Amino acid sequence: MSEVRSQKIHRREDKVHKRIKKIGIIGAGTMGRGIAQVFALYDYPVVLVDEKETILQDALNNVKSRTEPELWNKVSGHIETSTNFEKIKDCDLIIEAVFENVDVKKEIYNVLNKVCKNDTIIATNTSAFSINKLAEAVEKPSCFIGMHFMNPPKVMKLLEVIKGEKTSENTLKSILDLSKKIGKTSAVVNDSPGFVSNRLLFALIGEALRLLEKGISDKEDIDAIMKCGMNHPMGPIELADFIGLDICRNIMTYLYESLKDERYKPTPMLESLVKEGKLGGKTGEGFYKY
Ligand code: NAI
Repeated sequence: MSEVRSQKIHRREDKVHKRIKKIGIIGAGTMGRGIAQVFALYDYPVVLVDEKETILQDALNNVKSRTEPELWNKVSGHIETSTNFEKIKDCDLIIEAVFENVDVKKEIYNVLNKVCKNDTIIATNTSAFSINKLAEAVEKPSCFIGMHFMNPPKVMKLLEVIKGEKTSENTLKSILDLSKKIGKTSAVVNDSPGFVSNRLLFALIGEALRLLEKGISDKEDIDAIMKCGMNHPMGPIELADFIGLDICRNIMTYLYESLKDERYKPTPMLESLVKEGKLGGKTGEGFYKY
């Protein structure tokens, strides 16, 4: 293709590449509420949807507690909450942040297929599931993409953007453009279990847990080695507690089963802590006591 023709095509693509003005978020849990806060801080109108009013109220209270008082009027003014999916019908982008469960996510896409505009971009915040598999449940896979925010979304600079086989260049460009507008650094990856972030992270956490269980060192020293020796802000075992040991176990099981790689197999100590309900910071005890 000649350079002139290629430039023309790029210019045309730039023109059609969608401008995102209003954002719907499904799921007002840890991630959904944090993502809503980020967009509101950057002046985007957001509709935050969950199943129960009480969850939505709790989400708003939580966002308020993590917002500078002088910014709260602006943030609250931009976030509308609802239990009714009809409220998101004029959104240009919908971010799904419900439980990490394929069936629950697919049920949401069935509803979105009926409610959304034809050109609405649908993004998932899944930590690990295949974008190509999830795309099977959406009407327009070209408008489907992974937007993997990290916890907490306001603090973490990264947005891992996962391109499915059918994700269009326009969809990708729109999301990269948006990512810049909300001050994130985006990294684009192709679809693969755990993408890049969790594949690397859980190889590290898995190895740290094996070192602990084999008695090579204790948890405090393993964490100190990575914090003071490698400049990681948290040690891998502390980080597992912070993420939640149930979530770690689920992601590791998924990676182990999809990649058939022993590195990701949940270790016996991790399994037994999860069975005892010791899930890390959120339950007051995990590998550490809080
Ligand atoms: P969470 O359990 O805190 O929140 C999920 C929310 O979805 C709940 O409030 C629940 O009521 C809502 N929900 C479930 N079914 C619904 C439905 N049919 N309609 C409307 N709302 C519904 O989960 P969390 O941690 O926020 O995770 C959400 C997604 O983000 C998952 O895919 C997870 O893997 C991913 N993620 C989580 C991170 C974390 O550190 N927690 C980090 C990055 C990604």
